[in-house]
Amino acid sequence: MSSQELIATAGAMVAEDKGLLAIDESTPTCNKRFEKVGIPQTEEARRSYREMILTTLGLGEFISGIILYDETIRQSRKDGTPFVKVITDAGIIPGIKVDTGVKDMAGHLGEKITEGLDGLRDRLAEYSQMGARFAKWRAVITIADGIPSRGCIEANAQALARYAALCQEAGLVPIVEPEVLMDGEHTLKRCSEVTEEVLRTVFKELYTQKVTLEGMILKPNMVLPGLACPTQETVDEVADATVRCLLRAVPAAVPGIAFLSGGQSGELATARLNAMNVRFKSRLPWALAFSFARAIQQPALEIWKGEEATVLSAQQALYHRAKCNRAARRGEYNAAMERTRT
Ligand code: 13P
Repeated sequence: MSSQELIATAGAMVAEDKGLLAIDESTPTCNKRFEKVGIPQTEEARRSYREMILTTLGLGEFISGIILYDETIRQSRKDGTPFVKVITDAGIIPGIKVDTGVKDMAGHLGEKITEGLDGLRDRLAEYSQMGARFAKWRAVITIADGIPSRGCIEANAQALARYAALCQEAGLVPIVEPEVLMDGEHTLKRCSEVTEEVLRTVFKELYTQKVTLEGMILKPNMVLPGLACPTQETVDEVADATVRCLLRAVPAAVPGIAFLSGGQSGELATARLNAMNVRFKSRLPWALAFSFARAIQQPALEIWKGEEATVLSAQQALYHRAKCNRAARRGEYNAAMERTRT
């Protein structure tokens, strides 16, 4: 695979004002979300839920790529059509989460390290053969008293960079996802300082590991006040702080930045992305896109509840959120869109 092909795939992932849909929840995470809304936690329920999502008519109008989980990439529609074929037939690019999850980091109380580098080269080759064209690895950074530590930031950044280099060797575009969590009482200013430090460290490691920046996508958090912080800034203030931070830390060679939603409500995540594009789009070196899981899926999950009769209305809810997010990429989203669902 030439770097030209990697660059073309990365470009296609953020082209035409579309974005990414993450349905790569691990089995334990997916089960937890099912439990909350009373859906049985079985392999068949997870397959059936993903079939509902992937067979949403017209999803490809707004979604350029879909991130799958190991169990899901091996599954099929009830009629036997493999999910990867369902996705590519819809004009969407299939991708795969390849980290194996976050673990407590030794010697670093309250901090996490992401695992999955062992055997990664072989797993990437298999996923590529199955049709995946990009991959995802998520690192988690927690803000609290005295953390994050340099040790945690550096170890996670190095793992992200080693993963990204292996992906590019295998011809897969790496989505590099360092997530600074929203949980906590910290201020927006503190989130901005931590996010900037994390991103600067990640890009230093990507350079050291010889990753081609033009052939990757960055998936960061937005710069937000902690969920328990008494001061909650406005949508425009969040947009300004996020773009200011990214401009300081993300090289212009990166083609696209696709935000995670991180537990924000769907409407707020869309409104914040919209504000960034309204205020800055024409002046930015990279596309500002989305790679949401909860902020696109949640209403559909709550409607679906595991029942055949709800499939169409769940799909309409999913389609609606995807449509709103493409509008946000264009800076054309407004609250009225939430009232006139089509
Ligand atoms: P959320 O949008 O729900 O944060 O998920 C994005 C993701 O892929 C997390 O790794």
